[in-house]
Parts: sequence; C-alpha cells; structure tokens
Amino acid sequence: MPADAAAKGVKLERYASGGALLLRRVASGKLVSASSHLLFRATVLATIALVFLFTLHYPSLLSRSFSLSSSSSSSSPTPLQHASHRSLLMSSSTPAASAASVYGSEKWQKEIKKSAKPRKADGGMSVLVTGAAGFVGTHCALALRARGDGVLGLDNFNSYYDPSLKRARQGVLAARGVVVLDADINDAPLLAALFEAVPFTHVLHLAAQAGVRYAMEAPQTYVASNVAGLVTVFEAAAKRADPQPAVVWASSSSVYGLNTESPFSEEHRTDRPASLYAATKKAGEAIAHTYNHIYGLSITGLRFFTVYGPWGRPDMAYFSFARAIVAGEPITLYADARRDFTYIDDVVRGCLGALDTAGKSTGSSSRSGKKTGPAPLRVYNLGNTSPVPVTRMVAILEKLLGKKANKRVIAMPSNGDVPFTHANVSHAAHDFGYRPTTSLDAGLRHFVDWFVEYYKLDTKVAKAARAGTDKKPTKKKAAAMSASS
Ligand SMILES: NC(=O)c1ccc[n+]([C@@H]2O[C@H](COP(=O)([O-])OP(=O)(O)OC[C@H]3O[C@@H](n4cnc5c(N)ncnc54)[C@H](O)[C@@H]3O)[C@@H](O)[C@H]2O)c1
Repeated sequence: MPADAAAKGVKLERYASGGALLLRRVASGKLVSASSHLLFRATVLATIALVFLFTLHYPSLLSRSFSLSSSSSSSSPTPLQHASHRSLLMSSSTPAASAASVYGSEKWQKEIKKSAKPRKADGGMSVLVTGAAGFVGTHCALALRARGDGVLGLDNFNSYYDPSLKRARQGVLAARGVVVLDADINDAPLLAALFEAVPFTHVLHLAAQAGVRYAMEAPQTYVASNVAGLVTVFEAAAKRADPQPAVVWASSSSVYGLNTESPFSEEHRTDRPASLYAATKKAGEAIAHTYNHIYGLSITGLRFFTVYGPWGRPDMAYFSFARAIVAGEPITLYADARRDFTYIDDVVRGCLGALDTAGKSTGSSSRSGKKTGPAPLRVYNLGNTSPVPVTRMVAILEKLLGKKANKRVIAMPSNGDVPFTHANVSHAAHDFGYRPTTSLDAGLRHFVDWFVEYYKLDTKVAKAARAGTDKKPTKKKAAAMSASS
C-alpha cells in the first residue's frame, strides 16, 4: 500500500506541477469544450488537495514500512544489525530529539550519573569502562572505584566464554556501586546518549573479542568488536562528547607477531601479525593514530602480555589447564612455548597509571570534533619482563592443585600462537612508574585460591590446593566471592 500510494503521489504531483502545459495540450484537444474547463479546474484542485494530504502522511507511511521490515528480521540481531536498527530509528522518527531522550528514562539517567560520579573530595576522574564485565575490566573498575573515581561500565555479556562468570563479576561491581550496562560498543546512539548525559573525563576501552585461536572459527566477530566497535567508540568520544575524554584502550602484545628481536620494545616492527586477532589490534593502533591526528583525541594503547589471575578468562591456558587437571582430563602443551605471564594487579596499576597521565584531548564537538592542537598519542607494553616456559606454569599448577596433569606435548602448530613473548617495559616505567612485582608462583597461588573457592571444588581437591598454597583465603575475600557467585 505505501508503495502504491507513493507511486500515485508522484504521478499526481507531476500532473499538478505540469498543470499549465497540460492545460494547453488539453485545450488543443478535439474533445475539450467550454464546459470541460470547469471539470478540469476541479480536477486540478482535487489533485493539489490529494498531494497535500499525501505529503502530510508520508513520514508515518515510511516509518510503518520500516517497523514492519525490522520486526520480520531475526529475533536475536547481531551487534551490527542492532546498531543500524537503532540508528535508522533515531534518524527517521526523532530527528530533533536528543539521543538521551530516546535512551534515558529519568531513573536510567540518575543511575548512570550516580555510578559515574567521582567520590573524592578533591575531584577525581569519571571513567567509562567498556568490557567492564570482562576479566581486566572488572579489576580496573574495582580499583578505580576503590580510590574514589566515578565508573560506569558497559558490556555485551557475549558467550565467547561462560556468561555466568561475567554476570558474577557484574554482581561484584554492583556491590561496590558500579553499574554495568548491558550494551554493545557498536550501539552509536547509546554511546552518544551516555556522553550527552555524563561528562566523562576518561574512557578505558577494554571491550574486544579476545583470543588468538578463536579467530579461525569466528573471524567476523573480531572485525565487529575490535575494528568496527573501536571506530564507534572513537567516533563518539571525538564527536559526541564535550569536552572530549582521554581514551586508554587495550591493544595486545600479539601485535609483535613474528618479531624475533627480544625483549619486545615499542620501537620494534609490528607489521607481521600471526593471527587475525593480532591484525585487528594492529589495525586499532593505526585507527588510533587517525583519531588523534584529525580529532585531537588523547589516546593511549596498552599492549598487555598474557594477563592472569583471580576472576580470569576460562579460555586462557592457565585457567583451562587448572580445570583439566582437577577433572583429570588431558592437556595439550606446545613444546618450547614461553610466555611473559603478567599478574592482574600489576596490569591494573599500569592501566591506572596510563589513565592518570593521559593528558587532555584537544578537539571540541562544536568544531565537529576537530582538534585545536596536538594531543598525546602513546603506546606502552604492560608485561612482566620475565618469560616462563608453559611447562613450568603447568608444574606450578600441579603443585598448587596437588594433582599431576595428564600432559601431551606437541610441536606448536600454525594457528596464530607465537613461540614466546617478552616485554620491555622501560617506557611505562619512565612515564608512569610501572613496575610489575608479582612472580608467577605468587600470582598462580592467588588464582588457585579463587578458583577453588569460586567453583566450590570438592574438599579433597580444595584441601590439596590449600596445602599447595599453604594458606587459607582471607575471610574478606571468601565473602566477596560468595556474595557474587
Ligand atoms: N587477558 C589478556 O591476556 C590480554 C592480553 C592482551 C590483550 N588483551 C585485551 O585486553 C582487553 C580485556 O581483555 P580480557 O582478558 O579482560 O577479556 P574479556 O573477554 O574477559 O573481556 C572483554 C569483555 O568485552 C566484552 N565485549 C566483547 N565485545 C563487546 C562488544 N562488541 N560490546 C560490548 N562488550 C563487548 C566481553 O563480553 C567481555 O566481557 C581486550 O581488549 C583484550 O583483547 C587481553
């Protein structure tokens, strides 16, 4: 029906606008008589009235056809489908409304503002943490909150690994007054609404599709979150925030790829990624350069080196090996693989140091985000500076869990993994005093304490693990864990 009406409308419009020409043609026709002039005038008037009526109703016809088509699409849209759905809605039905009015009930606005408000007497930061229900995001959000900064989290709770672990982390954050919105970084109208509602001083952008091997199974998810999503975050920070925040975001040690110089320094080559994950992080670093160059966004990229610890990621080797050892399942190790395992608390200190020293962005939304002068563009390694063979990591786990692993050692296949990683952290040390202090033995001990408690392992394994760790979890820690699980 709308299509018919539109076609009719166009025809009628042509008829009306070409009225004079038509009149001449009609007047010269054989069948035209004096009385038909009256009829003709009446027809032209009726036509104009119809065109007027059609124009009045055109927008609603269009929006009805849009909502019909969107309701017939899949019931669980991908993040990108979701984003375009939201932007079409915004532009067709509420051009003059502010983004916040679409997203924010008064209650919603109150909650996010409360969460993002610093609680320090002398100011403090207001930080939007993306990927806040993730491993690193949760720890950083807690540390920021603990020192009195305002934090609002955002996470899409995807099922790359057990979402119940992400929900449990969200519970821990909620208990500390940190709200984590269930949202995707590709939702540009939502980001605009957030920047409109809250004057964030910083964005800690950690949301990404992590994992090296999964990129061979689901390559598009890496492009959607690590490339498209990063652009959406930079766009919003550059053009929708006033003043622009400084952005600190997670790159990865994987950008060093096939680099053979060691220890890895920020000056080394990063143009030979070994996995699509690494390639998307490298693309992110190039994209960061553009947003800094054009829009004056202060941007800091952090290259994390194999971060581990309590509340960690179940897809990572130390975690999945611990699980397999407890379950008596075999594990596959790559011979000669070494990793610069970095304990979560050290990484959190690095993230906070980077935020504290980020420097200001120089663009302004009144100039479409364009810069008024140069802004900081930085990249830092955050590693432990002492690579450890993966076989040694397994030996530590065996001791802590009181159980031998059923190991199968194979040569490393070409699936995106690199043989070793080793960070040079002198730049981070110089610029914000980054100094990793946790040995792998000590860090894995903290991990196993949490692991045993969180998964409520049977008393035999727990006893062995406690004997291995030689200490009980503190009362405070145990309470926090049970409250969240
Ligand atoms: N953990 C490491 O060893 C390590 C090493 C190098 C780099 N990194 C990077 O650090 C960051 C944090 O890693 P992590 O270990 O905490 O991973 P994580 O998977 O636990 O956290 C990432 C979070 O982002 C969320 N997310 C993913 N895509 C999203 C999207 N489109 N919109 C909203 N939320 C989305 C996920 O649900 C997840 O909770 C990531 O960018 C990762 O690539 C981590």
